[in-house]
Amino acid sequence: MQIKPVLSLVLPLLAVLKLFTPSTTTLFSSAPGIFAYLNYHVPRTRRDILEILLKGLRRLEYRGYDSAGVGIDGGNEKDWESNARSITLIKQRGKVQALDEEINKQQDIDMDVEFDVHLGIAHTRWATHGAPSPVNSHPHRSDKSNEFIVIHNGIITNYKDLRKFLESKGYEFESETDTETIAKLVKYMYDNRESDEISFATLVERVTQQLEGAFALVFKSVHYPGEAVVTRRGGPLLIGVKSDHKLSTDHIPILYRSSGKDKKGCTTLPRMDQDTCLFPVDEKAVEYYFASDASAVIEHTNRVIFLEDDDVAAVSEGRLSIHRIKRTAGDHPARAIQTLQMELQQIMKGNYSAFMQKEIFEQPESVVNTMRGRVNFDDNTVTLGGLKDHIKEIQRCRRLILIACGTSYHAGVATRQVLEELTELPVMVELASDFLDRNTPVFRDDVCFFISQSGETADSLMALRYCKEQGALTVGVTNTVGSSISRETDCGVHINAGPEIGVASTKAYTSQFVALIMFALLMCDDRISMQPRRCEIIQGLRILPDLIKEVLSLDDEIQKLAQELYQQKSVLIMGRGYHYATCLEGALKIKEITYMHSEGILAGELKHGPLALVDKLMPVIMIIMRDHTYVKCQNALQQVVARQGRPIVICDRDDQETINNSSRTIKVPHCVDCLQGVLSVIPLQLLSFHLAVLRGYDVSNPPPRPGCSQGSTVTLFA
Ligand code: F6R
Repeated sequence: MQIKPVLSLVLPLLAVLKLFTPSTTTLFSSAPGIFAYLNYHVPRTRRDILEILLKGLRRLEYRGYDSAGVGIDGGNEKDWESNARSITLIKQRGKVQALDEEINKQQDIDMDVEFDVHLGIAHTRWATHGAPSPVNSHPHRSDKSNEFIVIHNGIITNYKDLRKFLESKGYEFESETDTETIAKLVKYMYDNRESDEISFATLVERVTQQLEGAFALVFKSVHYPGEAVVTRRGGPLLIGVKSDHKLSTDHIPILYRSSGKDKKGCTTLPRMDQDTCLFPVDEKAVEYYFASDASAVIEHTNRVIFLEDDDVAAVSEGRLSIHRIKRTAGDHPARAIQTLQMELQQIMKGNYSAFMQKEIFEQPESVVNTMRGRVNFDDNTVTLGGLKDHIKEIQRCRRLILIACGTSYHAGVATRQVLEELTELPVMVELASDFLDRNTPVFRDDVCFFISQSGETADSLMALRYCKEQGALTVGVTNTVGSSISRETDCGVHINAGPEIGVASTKAYTSQFVALIMFALLMCDDRISMQPRRCEIIQGLRILPDLIKEVLSLDDEIQKLAQELYQQKSVLIMGRGYHYATCLEGALKIKEITYMHSEGILAGELKHGPLALVDKLMPVIMIIMRDHTYVKCQNALQQVVARQGRPIVICDRDDQETINNSSRTIKVPHCVDCLQGVLSVIPLQLLSFHLAVLRGYDVSNPPPRPGCSQGSTVTLFA
């Protein structure tokens, strides 16, 4: 086997590259999508298969993408095995609809041919390396005869070196992507195999050993008809299983490469049998769905297996087995088949024009779901089952560190003050990427929180692994059961906000906010001096859902405001104290969805520079609430007015002074100070949504960010 020369060429380069490439891939909230479907002894026509693949891609459309493609068996023979000896690729720039039209234009493929066994793979791409175009779209191929094809989410950081190596061996590249390297590499492994007995899974294992970066991959090959091999590192990938028959097991034990070597000196995988793979016991009919997101699978089956990093899962002759190269301490020896609780209707838009809008309006219920069974409003107690075994240890810790990205980071900023107040501990709030860049000192008596809607954000996940290595206790605050962060943390709280499909996070933010407040309340439940404050906050949580409904009733008023603002270039949002996080979050929503410039400014910093931006033309939104920062905020208002600014003020509806002093107000109901941020952010969520619609953007299927198609933005997983 010629693997050693590859390693010797590549490894020294990697060591150098690690020093110079950005330390982590940064997650952006838009992400490409993977969907694949394997039917085993479940006859399907080619038309059926393509419909299933396209539907899977449509379920992933909400994440934003710029091109799409499918790879299916070619040939129009009567027997599926002959057809599986060739692969047809159809790829198109633009929406899934454009791919659908392209498929319908194909003259040479017979849609009525039936396949007893078939693997089809499909992908929506978000351009990172090379512009959106059919040739840069996935699946990528090993060669002109499509011997191996692959779809990929993520980024291969050492692709240039791999490409150089493969080119030196005569492999010709056709695209500008990092992914094509993987397709060529698997063929290289196949061309250099030591025997014809080598399994597809082994080839893929060898490929992944050469890859640096983050990935979720699905492979298909003419050499392994009806077989699928999938793997992940740093990106989500799950397998849905559907069979009318009882399955042989509900846990799939991991197959490790045996430590011994066979006579030829190659490492081998143990024998596969009934206990080490998944298979329907009585009948053989089974279907498998592979996806980067549960929303693409749920309409077919709710039985899923979440893969862990470096798992290589293979389906061969209808059997699913999971392989790992080596056993490491703490490895779970099996992967469970879990039942997804998600319903299809939960991921449907209903009467709303976009998922984001639906999710904004779901907040009265989503915050209730976050508190359900946890907050007892009668006796003012809080129970968090996921923390109960660790709460004493957390109470003894030296400091709390909240680590997250984007909106989830803002949830940490929003609750930091009340966490400090109720826990009397130092609380640091950290952006995961910066935290890693700084190699921040972390100690065994620190407790590190990882706040993440998806539970898969690469930087947050890497920060989690870093903190674990330092011996800190890790706590997950996630919305996605089974996600990497929820699995890898020592304990945690699921925010139970329900699936968040919209690209811009909204209901997850308010639920993270509430979950962190519940944690703060739990931390001081035996502190007598804190009881009046605890009761005030718990009673505030009780009425919060109704107050959210009242804020949502301002929608028409906010839409009118959006009409006045949508042609502006920029919006400044100012506030302080509990509402600084609202400013950051409002500005992020506006930037992300409307492509307008927006900045969240701490009102206390106005005189240190930002005031220079204020004049009679610059739109300014200010948040002024009746809390301990009220007088200071009034001062900031005066400074803005003195520069001829005409701010729109989000204020307490009973605050007559601010209402009288401001030309324009958005009046929200009053709530206990530390929860008021849940109410002040909602007008900005609504405003960003309406601005985006008025500016002509499709909020549910966002187009790629202008200018990010040439590899300037590193897009990973959501
Ligand atoms: C903004 C948004 C992003 C995410 C960020 C972290 O609307 O959605 O800023 O908040 O990418 O994602 P999670 O919370 O999944 O870790």
